Amino acid sequence: MAIPDNIIDKIQEKSDIVEIISAYIPLKKVGRNYKTTCPFHHEKTPSFIVSPDKQIYHCFGCGAGGNVFSFLMKYENLQFPEVIEMLAKKTGVVLPRGAGRKDEENSFTSQLYKINELACQFFQSCLANNKTARDYLTSRGIGDEAAHTFKIGYAPDQWEGLLNFFKTRSATSQVLEKAGLVISNDKGGHYDRFRNRVIFPITDLKNRTLGFGARVLDSSLPKYINSPETAIYSKGRNLYGLDVSCAAIKKEGYALVVEGYLDFIIPYQAGIKNIIATLGTALTVDQITLLKRFANTVIMVYDPDEAGEAASLRNLDLCISEDVNVYIAELPAGLDPDGYIRKFGADDFLKLVKSSKNLFDYKIDKLTKRFSINTSNGKTAIAGEMLPTLSRINNAVLKSTLIKKLSDRLSVDEEALKIELKKVKTGYSERRYVPDTAEARIDKNSAELIVLALLLEGGSLAGKAFAEIAPDEFRNSSVRELVKLIFTLNKDNRQISPARLISQTSGSAEAANLISEAVGILEIVKDKDKTMADCISRIKKDNLRERLNMLQEAIRAAHNQKDEDRMKALVSEYNDLVKINKT
Ligand code: UTP
Ligand code: MN
Repeated sequence: MAIPDNIIDKIQEKSDIVEIISAYIPLKKVGRNYKTTCPFHHEKTPSFIVSPDKQIYHCFGCGAGGNVFSFLMKYENLQFPEVIEMLAKKTGVVLPRGAGRKDEENSFTSQLYKINELACQFFQSCLANNKTARDYLTSRGIGDEAAHTFKIGYAPDQWEGLLNFFKTRSATSQVLEKAGLVISNDKGGHYDRFRNRVIFPITDLKNRTLGFGARVLDSSLPKYINSPETAIYSKGRNLYGLDVSCAAIKKEGYALVVEGYLDFIIPYQAGIKNIIATLGTALTVDQITLLKRFANTVIMVYDPDEAGEAASLRNLDLCISEDVNVYIAELPAGLDPDGYIRKFGADDFLKLVKSSKNLFDYKIDKLTKRFSINTSNGKTAIAGEMLPTLSRINNAVLKSTLIKKLSDRLSVDEEALKIELKKVKTGYSERRYVPDTAEARIDKNSAELIVLALLLEGGSLAGKAFAEIAPDEFRNSSVRELVKLIFTLNKDNRQISPARLISQTSGSAEAANLISEAVGILEIVKDKDKTMADCISRIKKDNLRERLNMLQEAIRAAHNQKDEDRMKALVSEYNDLVKINKT
């Protein structure tokens, strides 16, 4: 039995977020809020804010946030029911019999794990029955053993293949939708998300399936479709393959970091087992924290165009802040690890890995190719790129050694570098929305976040927002889901607050981060009435522009197909939209 909402509300009311967080880390009062350095990433200036009024916390540096439950889940590494149980004891709230952890079997998340496991089996049996898909795997060099280890499957070329499979297995389409396996259509029906694709399950350290990646068998686009964020899957918080590679990573003392499924599987199959894949995203602090449980050194295996890019190098500074040693192995142009091994073999690949350079040397070499090391402008530019990396180093001895090295390479006075280093601001502001310019920079995403926060405010402003915008008008799917939930709660006359809404999402970290970020942005907005009007009109304008573009496309297609009736209907819709929005 799930824990009833009223019990969760009661526990929340009795657990003061300031009291609980300050039992772990010291908080300093600043105005109405409390401030400290974030416990979830390294930082020197505090950007971790706790709001006693709203009962939520948010870090403007790394984006972590949520209510008292989210904090304990993240800090103590607990599941939602475990946190509820812990706080129930502390606050003296009696849990109904059978609720809480012992009942995790039936909790929503464990239901999702079960569904994913069944889906996995379904995809695997479809692979066994589909020669084309098996031939595709063979053509990519994936053998039976690897296919089995990584639970590779195939999603059939049907709209309701998986839906039908689940008909007899007591999972409703609504739950399948929450698992990210099916998508709802306009008519309230559902269809399979993954069709005619090879399936790569994404598993956690316990080998539970969290979500799926799905590749086409030919060169059509999009190449991969992935599970959306769900209550158990959050992109950027997992590393593909870590459950099977963690032992080897621990033994070798380092992990090879690659991007794609195939770039992981092919080397692994060739005996290179200390490897993980980020699945096409830049490494996140969460992923680095996860890796650090097994090794303190990573070797990024990059293709050269990307490796040279300032943005991906800057991202690696994150590893430095987290005290992880970074090396970079550069592949020849046009080859990824999969392609390289298939062309030159695993031994050559390992040689390339062994010849990797540490981030410091690699970056300096790249920069000296871009800027002249002999001119003062060149030296300034190189130092300007290197110093932010150096400033992330926590170990003073290492830092001083590298400053000496940089001063030698550039023939620049060491003291001068030290002075410049002091001026460098660390922090994650380059990665995140900068909050103090909220009014000036209402971009597409923050407009939706601000309206989300407004809906949670209560009062007449929220009432106005409810009247003026509908959930379907939100483009960001995570925000849209939250807005839908708010509308439902509002319709049921349930009390809504940021902290409550976070509880309603059963500990989804992504939802918690988003909600607390939204509230944080709204907090520094001065003229709320004006901002609301601006944000809503921005969202509507963006949607309109998109709809008009789509109609134009459709009109062109209808024109090419000489479908007069369809063209007429589309043109009339187009003109109506333009007319309505002029007045
Ligand atoms: P790549 O384009 O390098 O693909 O994207 P790949 O893994 O080498 O695939 P193959 O060799 O063409 O089969 C790297 C990773 O980025 C993600 C996937 O996780 C992929 O493995 N990706 C890529 C997507 O999620 N969607 C895409 O459309 C493309
Ligand atoms: Mn590839």
